[in-house]
Amino acid sequence: MEVPTSEPVSPARRAEEVLARNRRGDWTCPSSELYPHQWLWDSCFVAMGLARSDPARAAGELRSLLRGQWSNGLVPHMVFSPDVPDVGSRRIWQSTRHPEAPRDIHTSCITQPPLVAVAALRVGQALEPADRRAFLVEVLPKLIAYHRWLYRERDPHRRGLITLIHPWECGLDTTPPWMVALRRLPQPWWMRLVTGLRLARVVRFVRRDTRFVPAAERVSEDDGLRMLVLAHRARRSGFRLDRLPPDSSVQIEDLAFNALLVVSNRALREIAAELGEPIDAELGERFAATEQAFDELWDDRAGQYFSRDARTDALLTMPTVATFLPLWSGVTSAAQTERLLALLRDTVRFWPAYPVPSVPLDAPEFDPTRYWKGPTWVNMNWAIIQGLRAHGETDLAEELRRRTLDLVTQAGPCEYFSPLDGEGLGAEDFSWTAALTLDLLADPGGAG
Ligand code: DGY
Repeated sequence: MEVPTSEPVSPARRAEEVLARNRRGDWTCPSSELYPHQWLWDSCFVAMGLARSDPARAAGELRSLLRGQWSNGLVPHMVFSPDVPDVGSRRIWQSTRHPEAPRDIHTSCITQPPLVAVAALRVGQALEPADRRAFLVEVLPKLIAYHRWLYRERDPHRRGLITLIHPWECGLDTTPPWMVALRRLPQPWWMRLVTGLRLARVVRFVRRDTRFVPAAERVSEDDGLRMLVLAHRARRSGFRLDRLPPDSSVQIEDLAFNALLVVSNRALREIAAELGEPIDAELGERFAATEQAFDELWDDRAGQYFSRDARTDALLTMPTVATFLPLWSGVTSAAQTERLLALLRDTVRFWPAYPVPSVPLDAPEFDPTRYWKGPTWVNMNWAIIQGLRAHGETDLAEELRRRTLDLVTQAGPCEYFSPLDGEGLGAEDFSWTAALTLDLLADPGGAG
């Protein structure tokens, strides 16, 4: 009798299966077990990855994300699934206490990298002309309201850069510059007791994430507790930047967030121009100011960009993968571009077997398996590929695309990967890895 041989599942097929499994009606959760709700930038990556193969679903993903938008314009970083009894997370926010928050669903009260306009533009490009117009007409006012909220609430002094109030807003949640800033904050007495007596490990028993993923791959208990304390403090100030007590808050002009905002501002301009409703001069000036402000985040001695403390104006000079995102924003001079490209190719720092590590290999904080402290992330690689293509660096972009796809082919669509040996880490079936894999497979050397 002939033994049936099972064909290895192709990365595209596996990605499609993950996106089908993580689908929750109109929206897609990042991972069924670990992240059962809807997240802002996750949904944007999912929509961009699905745009070619299923533009209608991609448009629905963004529409459903925007059902969480507040009347003041905020697009929250999380929209809670009504079917998941995750009381602990909801209690942190208590969004329905805010008159501007939606009444019928629970959301968080902070935001996340503002990629919605970028995703809307890409999804629009994939829709049939009539659907495209209807979709863009529907989302444009919501996108404008969101970008206005960002500038009004988070750049009140017109410095050009958006200030974030919590590391969850930057997307690279446990990235070293934020964790160092967090460690400098005065802690409540109980937190000092917990860390002093090394009791933080007890928290592991009540954590949700370590039920599914080894603790060594997740945020440490100390950092996790500090992030919770910060969220509770921000709640006391109504999550409003202008009400945060300066000495017990963190206020950072975040590099990754602002770099992605520039890309999104451009996408918003493009959508508005297509609909014949150009962005008004006031908002246009804010967009221009953000682009100009990037030079203030550049450290010429280090040859890279950093985030900045909004209260002290000090650059947070801890190198991370975020330094490459301005390549996509198109704000770098020729000399800055050259230095960033040399840094990216540096095998001792950012170009190991499976680039690009979220923290350079030679940094003291580098940990190849722990969340944003070293692993390679497909969304970062995807954004860097867009930047490389925008600068005509097609060979390097292609090399990075190939190595990124190798990772996913070998280890599956995991949340993140060891940059040293390519081991898959975090959630196993992660939606944005799956979606961006589809995009990278379908777009060898695309226009970016
Ligand atoms: C998070 O936890 O920051 C996510 O965006 C979910 O993937």
